[in-house]
Amino acid sequence: MTLAEVLAGATEYLAARGVAHPRLDAELILARALGLTRIELYTQHDRPLTEAERAAARSLVQRRGRREPLAYVLGDWDFRHLTLKTDPRALVPRPETEVVVERCLALLDGLDAPRVVDVGTGTGAIALALAHERTDARVWATDASVDALELARENAEALGLDVQLVHGDLLAGLEGPFELVVSNPPYVGADEIPDLEPEVRDWEPRSALVDEGQTERLARAARDVLDGFIVLEVHEARAVEVAAALTALGYAGATVGRDLAGRDRVVEAEWRATRS
Ligand SMILES: C[S@@+](CC[C@H](N)C(=O)[O-])C[C@H]1O[C@@H](n2cnc3c(N)ncnc32)[C@H](O)[C@@H]1O
Repeated sequence: MTLAEVLAGATEYLAARGVAHPRLDAELILARALGLTRIELYTQHDRPLTEAERAAARSLVQRRGRREPLAYVLGDWDFRHLTLKTDPRALVPRPETEVVVERCLALLDGLDAPRVVDVGTGTGAIALALAHERTDARVWATDASVDALELARENAEALGLDVQLVHGDLLAGLEGPFELVVSNPPYVGADEIPDLEPEVRDWEPRSALVDEGQTERLARAARDVLDGFIVLEVHEARAVEVAAALTALGYAGATVGRDLAGRDRVVEAEWRATRS
């Protein structure tokens, strides 16, 4: 079979299993299995594949057909300027979280060597992007999941980025002052889980998804370590509520920002250590 025939077959296979972008996923998987770029898939489309090449592609396509997230099948995923190792130990970093990093960078602008903590770091996405894009920042990252933290450590080492990784609940064990506390905490209601896409519902860690009050607990705890800004990724239906909660806790200037799809997704506010 030629590469074009295998690609067409893989696309059909993934489409029949409900994959949202079957052609794109088939191309990315084939390119990875064959060690080619996506352009080379087209320049080599008449090339017959060896049995070994077909077997390598088949096993990845079958995984995707079981609705395993593409990022887990490929084993890595781009986040801002970084390529992060991704596997079921942590949530796949999302484009909306890139907007969270954008807001953090804007708020840190003009501050010298800011101290920053990313709470619930997962793959390390936010912390590592900040360390990469603000090379003068001192960055901490926490997670309650040992598995996630291990993945974050592997990413930090592979990228040569210096982030202090701390295992524990929210900010436990950390001493301020921090100029920035950022978090993308779990924010899916337990009742919403059955309606999620299989990629999320069946594969991503439940502890990274289900809201168990982490956002509010973090907003309270951050006041003890913060002299600066808190930036939270939130459920689009709860952004206004979270902003109001921050105001009620004594934060100043709580505002809601949108993600690239126009959904209310980022809440930020300010806390000064002089306030009490
Ligand atoms: C939605 S994921 C975000 C992962 C990553 N920051 C990102 O944006 O891709 C939430 C993360 O918070 C962690 N987490 C959940 N509860 C926590 C807690 N009480 N303390 C610290 N981390 C927690 C989960 O293990 C998970 O890695």
